[in-house]
Amino acid sequence: MATVGPNKRSAGNVAERSDGWIRQGVDAVVAGMAAGTILAFGVSSLGPPGPQANAPASARGRSLRITTGGLVLGGLAGLLHAGLGNAGRRRRRQDAATPAAAGDTWTGWREFVVSRKQAESAEISSFELQPPDGEPLPAFQPGQFLTIELHIPGQARPVLRTYSLSDFPHHGEPINHYRLSIKREPAPKGQNVPPGLASNFLHDHVVPGSSLRIRPPAGSFVLDTNSTKPIVLISNGVGITPMIAMAKAALGQPSPRPIWFLHGCRNGPFHAFRDEIASLAAAHSNLHRHIAYSRPGEGDAGHYQSEGYVDWALVRSLVDQDADYFLCGSPAFMQALIAELRQAGIPEAAIHFEMFSRKPPTSASTSQPASEASAMAEAAPASTEVSFARSGLTATWASTDPEDTLLAFAEAQGVEPAFSCRSGVCGTCACRVLEGEVSYISEPTAGVTSGSALICIGRPKGATLNLDL
Ligand SMILES: Cc1cc2nc3c(=O)[nH]c(=O)nc-3n(C[C@H](O)[C@H](O)[C@H](O)COP(=O)(O)OP(=O)(O)OC[C@H]3O[C@@H](n4cnc5c(N)ncnc54)[C@H](O)[C@@H]3O)c2cc1C
Ligand code: FES
Repeated sequence: MATVGPNKRSAGNVAERSDGWIRQGVDAVVAGMAAGTILAFGVSSLGPPGPQANAPASARGRSLRITTGGLVLGGLAGLLHAGLGNAGRRRRRQDAATPAAAGDTWTGWREFVVSRKQAESAEISSFELQPPDGEPLPAFQPGQFLTIELHIPGQARPVLRTYSLSDFPHHGEPINHYRLSIKREPAPKGQNVPPGLASNFLHDHVVPGSSLRIRPPAGSFVLDTNSTKPIVLISNGVGITPMIAMAKAALGQPSPRPIWFLHGCRNGPFHAFRDEIASLAAAHSNLHRHIAYSRPGEGDAGHYQSEGYVDWALVRSLVDQDADYFLCGSPAFMQALIAELRQAGIPEAAIHFEMFSRKPPTSASTSQPASEASAMAEAAPASTEVSFARSGLTATWASTDPEDTLLAFAEAQGVEPAFSCRSGVCGTCACRVLEGEVSYISEPTAGVTSGSALICIGRPKGATLNLDL
């Protein structure tokens, strides 16, 4: 387990599960429930900063009335976000977890305006984002994501979410916009809970002209465009987004490399980017496209190549070369496929994945080894006095649950740290450690500066801890 504290580096020797999965699961969900946060989403009037900040320029200055209401759910904000705003990913130490080339990018938040909104399927819409000055944008690596800030009526603080860049420029062309493609998250079937907060707000209220603040491209789930090794890009649902960027980046490489683009979705209405990918495949003989529909409908003939799911049997029937595998999709799909890839003897170094949402590990191969959990519990102090310096609060941490995190603990004390992914991917929760040390429950993939820690995957180590929160 790695530790961080003042003048200590945060990454490098953290414990990671033997199967390469960052530990993830119900911890943040449970922790989010403990937070007792109030969420409001319904119908009401606008309060500053309210939706003005995200409203189209034309709507600003008017009394814009959208949503808000009195639905108060204890701990929902943490829970909501824990449900989907988390990623699991395999470590890729060889790749920079940093945005584009140094000096090319910006730091902190930058204002963007939605220049175009386009429905891609029954549930996914793309948003093209441009800076108001229209200046060309920094390059990014295929597979990286943006963190966006939304001012949603009824939310006490800005809502942050991360979304993969779903497009990639033609080789050498300046970038005049970034594209994000966002699935409208419904409430889980059979559960009486609200639908996804940010994605529904984006679909319903963010339109051309709306302003958003955005952090620079980041993330380490990226394609190495200096390699010519064959690649297999496998996705289902909205997991297609980073795959489009990777496919386009690979097609722009000077030496063509074999690319398999394998995607699964329900049927025609849910088949996002159908024409875009079909045109790429028609124009490039090294791009082998295969679309699987799980429930094809009338009129779908000709738009898919097989019925069923993308599984190893399908992959094996199509891919006949040593390749790097990139996976993104629903947790169940990824868990099953990653297990199959491993069983088939695909080397760990050739399997790269990113998950947009969390799911507790279920199989023996993806669950936390008992020895690791008990080792961590043993290493943890019986209790820690945790101070939140800026909030003027001190509370006693006495949790023996190895999945508990400082972020959830802070929320339970009424401190409201910023967060997005809750899994060490985006860097949003980084905070300065004024005194003491933090250990990690999984390896962070976000970069973090010396003397700071990612509290979404952090736990106290030692008798006292003072955080700049
Ligand atoms: C690196 C990365 C890249 C990503 N890229 C993309 C992308 O390209 N496109 C994309 O669409 N998404 C992407 N995501 C996911 C995205 O960040 C958000 O997590 C997603 O949009 C859902 O956010 P939300 O606010 O709409 O849902 P949330 O409000 O976070 O809710 C999540 C889910 O929980 C449910 N829920 C609400 N209340 C409860 C409750 N009490 N109990 C149980 N469940 C509840 C909601 O109905 C919803 O289904 C990415 C995530 C990461 C980490
Ligand atoms: S919230 Fe994303 S790294 Fe902690």
